[in-house]
Amino acid sequence: MREKIETLLTEIERLTANSLEEVEAIRIKYLSKKGIIATLMDEFRHVPADRKREVGMKMNALKQAATERLQQLKEQFAQNGTAQAGNDLSRTAYPVALGTRHPLSIVREEICDIFKRLGFTIAEGPEVEDDWHVFSSLNFADDHPARDMQDTFFIQHDPQIVLRTHTSSVQTRIMEKSAPPIRIICPGRVYRNEAISYRAHCFFHQVEALYIDRDVSFADLKQALLFFAREMFGTETKIRLRPSYFPFTEPSAEMDISCNICGGEGCPFCKHTGWVEILGCGMVDPNVLENCGIDSKQYTGYALGMGIERITNLKYQVKDLRMFSENDLRFLEQFRAAH
Ligand code: DAH
Repeated sequence: MREKIETLLTEIERLTANSLEEVEAIRIKYLSKKGIIATLMDEFRHVPADRKREVGMKMNALKQAATERLQQLKEQFAQNGTAQAGNDLSRTAYPVALGTRHPLSIVREEICDIFKRLGFTIAEGPEVEDDWHVFSSLNFADDHPARDMQDTFFIQHDPQIVLRTHTSSVQTRIMEKSAPPIRIICPGRVYRNEAISYRAHCFFHQVEALYIDRDVSFADLKQALLFFAREMFGTETKIRLRPSYFPFTEPSAEMDISCNICGGEGCPFCKHTGWVEILGCGMVDPNVLENCGIDSKQYTGYALGMGIERITNLKYQVKDLRMFSENDLRFLEQFRAAH
């Protein structure tokens, strides 16, 4: 009998009702003259005399618990005929539309996650930068065309303060204040004084990666690039490196991946070449290491940088760059399923 009472107690605690009719049904089931508790009271007669006191107290507790629970259930409907047990009364009365993650955020995180799996950690730097971090420390000669007014936004006519034109500036910031080994990934917004069109914008996003240690070689870079390409675009993806030039890397290269839209067959997206360019990379120029106080005789490193918009275009075939910053919900909501 004790067990029966215990089971009933938990059962009663968990009771819920969606309407006053249901509350009444509960009352009849448990507390009416022929209800469960009354029937149990009848059985009480057969309890041996020495246990009557203990069982009797439990019976009373049960009856009280049932009465109280019934009262609680009833009270829910006192003010509002439709309130339900467990309702969150702090919720708004109208449905709130859930936002979606921005496609660039989805892709940025995917890129960072892949590099995190290789041991890279996130580093960030300011968007308003000085000439040293954006250009000089990175081995840009004074008359390098990238410093040209055409590309760079200057702050308040001060040629020393600029909006960063690439996230490579974060490399220098981190190298200046930390000792190797350095293994960082730097996502961020960058600015260039470009006419806005479907394929260029005055701001966009990049991710930069930097690895400095003893004996870092071009082979390490290539392996990291292959890993990244396959994680991002699928295991069938091929990569190729073409020689290139950046002031801050020597040697420098640009990486193409086999076009993930046509699988390398040739299509309008890859201009029928089967390859699409996705990033720049190279071995950090010893001058850059020395500029940041790192001994280039002891340490070497690789760096790479890519545009998040470009990777996103490849993944989702967005044809017009401007869509990323127009906040058109019809565009953004298409990415609901992506994350
Ligand atoms: N900073 C370059 C750009 O904005 C991209 C880049 C190229 C970054 C090569 C690198 C690199 O770290 O090694 O176009």
